[in-house]
Amino acid sequence: MQIIDGKAVSEQIQKEIAQEVQKIKEAGRKVPHLAAVLVGNDGGSQTYVNHKVKMCQQVGFESTLIHLEETISQEDLLEVVHKLNENESIDGFIVQLPLPKHINETTITLAIHPSKDVDGFHPTNLGRMMLGLPCFLPATPAGILTLLERYQIPTTGKHCVVVGRSHIVGTPMSLLLSRNQKVGNCTVTLTHSRTIDLPSYTRQADILIVALGKPEFITADMVKEGAVVIDVGTTRVPDSSKKSGFTLKGDVKFDEVAPKTSYITPVPGGVGPMTVITLIQNTLLALKLKQTSLWI
Ligand code: GUN
Repeated sequence: MQIIDGKAVSEQIQKEIAQEVQKIKEAGRKVPHLAAVLVGNDGGSQTYVNHKVKMCQQVGFESTLIHLEETISQEDLLEVVHKLNENESIDGFIVQLPLPKHINETTITLAIHPSKDVDGFHPTNLGRMMLGLPCFLPATPAGILTLLERYQIPTTGKHCVVVGRSHIVGTPMSLLLSRNQKVGNCTVTLTHSRTIDLPSYTRQADILIVALGKPEFITADMVKEGAVVIDVGTTRVPDSSKKSGFTLKGDVKFDEVAPKTSYITPVPGGVGPMTVITLIQNTLLALKLKQTSLWI
């Protein structure tokens, strides 16, 4: 059994991007610029956005954090999005989710120009992904592809079972792994809350990707000997022994599942670190697509 070290891979990619940005600077060209919009004071969202902005600084990108009041109207938030769409100096931006209840997340997502949508949430990017056109891939599934690639885990012809059909993880993941690409060519089964006899599917998986947000849901009896297990879950479970007051728990019961696997991602330190670095990769790509007119 080998642990897939997402922290180490993300640090390696961070170094590679920092070197590329250094070269851009030395050539006197524009460096990538990411903007992040944060609405309100949700603790988790603040932490995530801070990580994203800090990572920009670490690789030499420009970054702008726009922190707005919880009470901002949808109309005013749309105005902020329109301004970012028009701002030439900003190559890509994100609006951190979830948004306050009075704001329609779909309306905001649709307002972001697809060429700046480095989260890859806009329908244009999701459609382009399906057609294999240049696009921004959603960070979590793209980060998982990177892990499979860097660990040289064969995917062609393998049976991949995805648990969870969310728009930002399970559904795009199932599509990406079924594509005719180097990391792809899997036979994919997408399972979800209405699947009957889930263990009968998970036990068939050569590659099992779990993204349902239920701590320790996948137990050893649900996993085939030698499977590759990718755990996307990051649920905060109260833990008074921790300074933060919580422990991060994955969707996989790691201690009993790990010995059966060929590869497994831990929580934390597996998929999580890959999502931030993938956003950074997407921002660099946004600048390159703009400069080379590859966005057709
Ligand atoms: N909230 C949780 N994950 C994400 C993400 O990847 N992007 C944005 N914008 N919001 C999120």
